[in-house]
Amino acid sequence: MASSKDTSKGIILVAGAGTGLSPTTFPISKALLPVYDRPMIYCSISTLMSAGIRDILVITSEADRHNFERTLKDGSHLGIRISYEIQHVQRGISDAFIIAEDFIDGDPCVLMLGDNIFHGDGFQALMEEASKDTENSNVFARWVPDPKRFGIAEFDSEGKVISLEEKPKEPKSNYAVVGLYYLPGDVSSKAKRLTPSARGELEITDLNRMYLEEGRLNVRVFGEDIFWKDAGTFDSLFESADYIRRKEKETGSLVLCPEIVAVKKGYVSKEKMLDWVASNKDNSYFLGIKDYIERM
Ligand code: G1P
Repeated sequence: MASSKDTSKGIILVAGAGTGLSPTTFPISKALLPVYDRPMIYCSISTLMSAGIRDILVITSEADRHNFERTLKDGSHLGIRISYEIQHVQRGISDAFIIAEDFIDGDPCVLMLGDNIFHGDGFQALMEEASKDTENSNVFARWVPDPKRFGIAEFDSEGKVISLEEKPKEPKSNYAVVGLYYLPGDVSSKAKRLTPSARGELEITDLNRMYLEEGRLNVRVFGEDIFWKDAGTFDSLFESADYIRRKEKETGSLVLCPEIVAVKKGYVSKEKMLDWVASNKDNSYFLGIKDYIERM
């Protein structure tokens, strides 16, 4: 459980048009598409909950707000609080910190992009470290073969970050900054000073560059032992679903399952979770939760 000094507020941004996955996203947000046996956003909720975050703001498009509310409700069945805001115009990732200004209220927070999927014990440990550093921006990077698709960090010979570029035409490294960011309490005021990029967005990379220039940016590099995908393409969505399915078959347990995290962390009692499970269909997802609780 996070101490009062650690980051305790989380934001999930799911307001994008999801054009990388159209036509599947014509009717619905990408974060509500299935990743094997659950809507994609369950993965982000579960990652944040595992890191001790129990107060979560979901920023949606106007059209999808109702769908997210039907999916996640107020979070009380998971022992967490979920609230909602709308991003009316797609002004970029850093706009989330302006929309969420009242929610953030000058406290440190963590922002997660709804299409980034992480799994692995090592990643929880990295998140814990980042959560404790509430004075600086803390981000994570990972080697990718296709750096033109991402925000890219360049390091000096001592491993210190020296530049950040959004989707560079000539990438200075292959280290992508992934979609999970721990930001300090001054993030909303900094985001308000940003100007739109050439693609008309308030870029997360520009925001992090402000912290870099102040000597307040930490980049933690992680490796292949941790599963990470930006599930915004057909292949990466398919690979994410395949990974989850394989893990679940191998271990006989659900992974990235918010209901299981809720019980494991003691956010809700076993009895309350079993009531929630009983109100749903006996399919492999809900039976998986029941099995887990019975084995505890
Ligand atoms: C966004 C960010 C980029 C980051 C990526 C991670 O890109 O702008 O810096 O590396 O997420 O998934 P987008 O997915 O919006 O193109």
